[in-house]
Amino acid sequence: MTLPALADLDGVEGARVLTRLDLNVPVADGEVQDDTRIVAALPTLRWLGERASVIAACSHLGKANGTPDPAYTLAPVAPVLADALGRPVRFIDDCLDESIAEAEPGTLLLLENLRYYPGEKADNADFAAKLTSGFTHYVNDAFGTAHRAHASVSAAPRLFAPGKKAAGFLMETEVSALSRVVRDPEQPFVAVVGGAKISTKTAPLEALLDRVRSLLIGGGMANTFLKAQGHEVGRSLVEDEMLSTARAVMDKAADRGIELLIPTDVVVTDALDHPTTIEVVAADAVPSGLLVVDLGPESRQRYSAALAGARTVFWNGPMGVFEVDAFAEGTLAVATAMAESSGFTVVGGGESVMAIRRAGVVDRIDHVSTGGGASLSFLTGDELPALAALEE
Ligand code: 3PG
Ligand code: MG
Repeated sequence: MTLPALADLDGVEGARVLTRLDLNVPVADGEVQDDTRIVAALPTLRWLGERASVIAACSHLGKANGTPDPAYTLAPVAPVLADALGRPVRFIDDCLDESIAEAEPGTLLLLENLRYYPGEKADNADFAAKLTSGFTHYVNDAFGTAHRAHASVSAAPRLFAPGKKAAGFLMETEVSALSRVVRDPEQPFVAVVGGAKISTKTAPLEALLDRVRSLLIGGGMANTFLKAQGHEVGRSLVEDEMLSTARAVMDKAADRGIELLIPTDVVVTDALDHPTTIEVVAADAVPSGLLVVDLGPESRQRYSAALAGARTVFWNGPMGVFEVDAFAEGTLAVATAMAESSGFTVVGGGESVMAIRRAGVVDRIDHVSTGGGASLSFLTGDELPALAALEE
């Protein structure tokens, strides 16, 4: 099956369209901190704006859990969206408000957080019916939420017949870029996986071992690999219950002749805030009182060299505690090596995307995904509930 596209919609001229976006953006003190996901939704909103009569955009934000919670209001998104689009956006403070169905032609609405209702995460059909009532068409452009079986992306599209529902431009772009990595990637395919924990990435790691030529491990999860190799890692974050998983990954890589890079030297410190000690040590000589916070220079060089020859690269998860400048070198080295690669390069996950920005190389990456969990699920080969519901 292929995803229904905007161009395939029947009767979209003058229609009332509900569009599900992923506007789950970071907000602090009532201000949007990063508008990437808002900007990514604009092409679809513009296309609909030239055709539809009423557009209502809906999304979740943050960890709202079934009840209204001002900490997670979407209200700060409305002015940013209006500015970016150059047209008024009317914010509706309840996604099931009765006024929505009566919106006048020419209106663009932004609905309050879907997760203020328990029905959203429960994929509840009643909630979906209320949310979609009064709309003739449904468009899903929320790639970042495609791995969730939630009502607005799962039960809701099932209420629309083929021809009345479609994937937006962002969804289409994401799926086509990630498909290129999943299906028959050009070799050598090199994957870089970092972040704090192996436990959240076990399935993607397994799936990658079926496809990659090289797998580069960094971030907190590298400590668990180091410990599985028999090294002490001081006070570093380690998942002891994942040692056997780390060993299984190492064994599988060895069996298949996959190059598995684990740090051979690391940056260690005594504290993340106000460190008094920062030094580079061999990965098998981490002092007991210190913690590992980044790749060392030799590892950075090895990782960069592995990336230099790649024809396909996928990266998810930072190589160290890159929020702290002193511990950001490994992550920035990967960002730079990706930018310099002539292969097809894809980055997914909020932190890796932030690193790409900090390194100033966004324009030199082929695809910067707006979905972290969603891109990992796609890469794992999971069926994404939102895509399945659109295709039905
Ligand atoms: C994300 O930011 O990962 C998506 O918006 C999905 O949000 P969630 O992880 O809270 O389901
Ligand atoms: Mg998430």
